[in-house]
Amino acid sequence: MKVYFLGHATFKLETGNCRILIDPFFTGNPQTNASADEQTGIDYILITHGHSDHIGDCVSIARREKAMVIANFEICNYLSTKGLEKVHPLHLGGKHKFDFGKVKMTPAIHGSGIFEDNKIIYGGNPGGFLIEAEQVKFYHAGDTGLTVEMQLLQEENINLAALPIGGNFVMDVEDAFRAVKIFKPQQVIPIHYDTFPVIKADPQKFKQLVEGIGVKCVVMKSGDMIEI
Ligand code: NI
Ligand code: MN
Repeated sequence: MKVYFLGHATFKLETGNCRILIDPFFTGNPQTNASADEQTGIDYILITHGHSDHIGDCVSIARREKAMVIANFEICNYLSTKGLEKVHPLHLGGKHKFDFGKVKMTPAIHGSGIFEDNKIIYGGNPGGFLIEAEQVKFYHAGDTGLTVEMQLLQEENINLAALPIGGNFVMDVEDAFRAVKIFKPQQVIPIHYDTFPVIKADPQKFKQLVEGIGVKCVVMKSGDMIEI
C-alpha cells in the first residue's frame, strides 16, 4: 500500500485496485501542496469527523469522482443531503469489507459538529480508521486526545499509525508518545501540527522520543509517500 501525506491530516492511499482519500482538506489548508482539482481516479473518501479541516473538499471531490464516502452515520446523512448518492455509514467499533480491504472505525475523544450557515449541525461521534489492505494495517487516529481506548489497539499489530501531535484540540507530543507506548505500532507519522499557530509542535522531538523505544518515525511533508 502506498501512503501519501498531503498535509495536516490528509492522506491518499493507493492499493492495487483503489485510490482512497482520508480527510481531504485542500482548500484553505496552508500545509498542503495539493489541490482538490488534482484528486482524480478517487474511489473512496474516508471522513473521521465533521470539522471543516477534515470534511474539507469531500463534497466536491466525491461528486466529481463518484467516489463512495465512508464516515459515521450522521455525517453520511448530512452528505446525502448535499446530493452525494454513494455513502457507506460505519460507526464506532464497526468494521466492513470494501473492495480494497477492511475498515474499522475506532473511537476518538473529540467533537464532530459540522459548522454551516452559522449553525452547528450534529455530526455524530468522531472517530479514527483502522484500514487493513494488502496484508498491512494503517491506523489514522483522527482528531483525538489520549484515551484508554487505545489499549484495544495493542492486539491489532499496526504497521503504520498517523497520530496528531499539535496539542490544544488533540494530543500533544508527550501524549502522542504515550499513545505510541500503549499500542506500539511499527512506524508512526506525526500529523495535525503547525497548520495554525495554536497547534505548533516539534515533530523532531516526537521522533526522538518514539525512536528511543524502537518505533520508527517518519516526519512527512505534503506530497511525501511511503510504501508499507
Ligand atoms: Ni477536529
Ligand atoms: Mn482537526
